[in-house]
Amino acid sequence: MSKNIKHDFVEKRVGWLAIFATIAISIGGIVEITPLMFQKQTNEPVVGLEPYSALELEGRDIYIREGCNNCHSQMIRPFRSETERYGHYSLAGEHVWEHPFLWGSKRTGPDLARVGGRYSDEWHYVHLMDPRDVVPESNMPGFPWLAENKLDGELTAKKMEVFRGFGVPYTDEDIAGAKAAVVGKTEMEALIAYLQSLGTGLKQQAN
Ligand code: HEC
Repeated sequence: MSKNIKHDFVEKRVGWLAIFATIAISIGGIVEITPLMFQKQTNEPVVGLEPYSALELEGRDIYIREGCNNCHSQMIRPFRSETERYGHYSLAGEHVWEHPFLWGSKRTGPDLARVGGRYSDEWHYVHLMDPRDVVPESNMPGFPWLAENKLDGELTAKKMEVFRGFGVPYTDEDIAGAKAAVVGKTEMEALIAYLQSLGTGLKQQAN
């Protein structure tokens, strides 16, 4: 049997072709993905990374609830056009404690991976109440109810415990103080605290 005839066998039998194609692609995938699972660079937090505080963690949940991630990515790609605009490209080690990741790829608005510290808390407040007050051409919706809704902190400790189960290094004190740290604060305060924390782990490393 010559090589050509063997090849004919798979090319003429679509079932076998599918099986062999799947095996070939799986080997390629495994070879690419498996080493990443064991690399320090992708598994270990960057130096100086802090877990979200109780208030920031609540802010992150509000960010997800309000669908901010439908318009904003949190992943700066390693291209000059991105790094000049947003700052240092995102590193896996900045996100090891995030569950789920909010990287995304849809950018109706700008990437927010390093928005922490770029604006004042007051700017964020005005912008979130009505974006057009600071950016007249903005098509981002306003979120004024966040300034009225207050956090009761009932679930904050529980959430932190769950995250600790995933390997986030919350201490017993962090968890014990969680409710007191958020109760009575507005959702707006929590969301702004979260935004101000974004991307700052790496900045600390650079200093
Ligand atoms: C319908 C899409 C959309 C949604 C939903 C949305 N945004 Fe935006 N966002 C934009 C657009 C467009 C801009 C750019 C114009 C501006 O600054 O308002 C923007 C800008 C921003 C900026 C300024 C970023 C910078 O670097 O200048 C922040 C911060 C921000 N959004 C946060 C949020 C948060 C937090 C939420 C959820 C509560 C949210 N956005 C929801 C579209 C959206």
